[in-house]
Amino acid sequence: MLDIKNINLSYGTSHILFSMSLQAKLGNVTAILGRNGVGKSSLLKAVMGLETIQSGTILWENTDISNLSPALRARSGVAYVPQGREIFSLLTVEENLQTGFSVLPMKERKISSFIYDLFPILKNMRNRRGGDLSGGQQQQLAIARALVMKPKLLLLDEPTEGIQPSIIKEIAEVIRYLVQSEKIGVILVEQYFDFARDLADSYYVLKKGRIALSGKGKEMKKNEIQRYLTV
Ligand SMILES: Nc1ncnc2c1ncn2[C@@H]1O[C@H](COP(=O)(O)OP(=O)(O)O)[C@@H](O)[C@H]1O
Ligand SMILES: [Mg+2]
Repeated sequence: MLDIKNINLSYGTSHILFSMSLQAKLGNVTAILGRNGVGKSSLLKAVMGLETIQSGTILWENTDISNLSPALRARSGVAYVPQGREIFSLLTVEENLQTGFSVLPMKERKISSFIYDLFPILKNMRNRRGGDLSGGQQQQLAIARALVMKPKLLLLDEPTEGIQPSIIKEIAEVIRYLVQSEKIGVILVEQYFDFARDLADSYYVLKKGRIALSGKGKEMKKNEIQRYLTV
């Protein structure tokens, strides 16, 4: 599991995460909620090593990874799907997926049928350019690209943002499958309450870089949490 203890993160003089502690288990969805600017993306970047924490520890499978490069964290089984997806629009779908290979040993560098079974649309569109896909398809591609690395922990940053309901449903099914059947841990950053509640085993609500509420997914109360989401 992932055990974050008392991390502090600043950008220059602006302090963003304040002594934050949280846990995420394998085979569980851990939802992180909060409105724009509270530090959700910064938290995921800190876990991935894309931003450097000033203090605290990040334990992953009982090892302190706080000082490892993003590449080494990826190799240890952590994968990240950034907010806004960051698909390479001039590369084909298949080439986008291949960019996930960098952390794998040579002999494992092939796209397993598992990926295309999860996202059949990507198989049909594998020779199309990333930029030709709809927003929802790009989100599916971004998740698939992370799964190519065979992660044990998947960090998802607002996967439903700007996506049509039919694809949101498909993404929910994939997340459920990954945690229940593959026993992957998912940290799901969201502002879409219903989506997060339907999937979460546990949740944290952030307010200005601190945890304001936390608990079990099935205890998530819309009226209580919604006021931390809408401005
Ligand atoms: N690279 C950066 N440099 C300086 N400030 C940043 C940077 N990234 C984010 N911030 C600021 O940190 C705060 C938290 O941002 P972010 O983690 O993206 O929040 P969220 O994902 O919850 O919207 C915001 O005030 C944002 O403007
Ligand atoms: Mg964000």
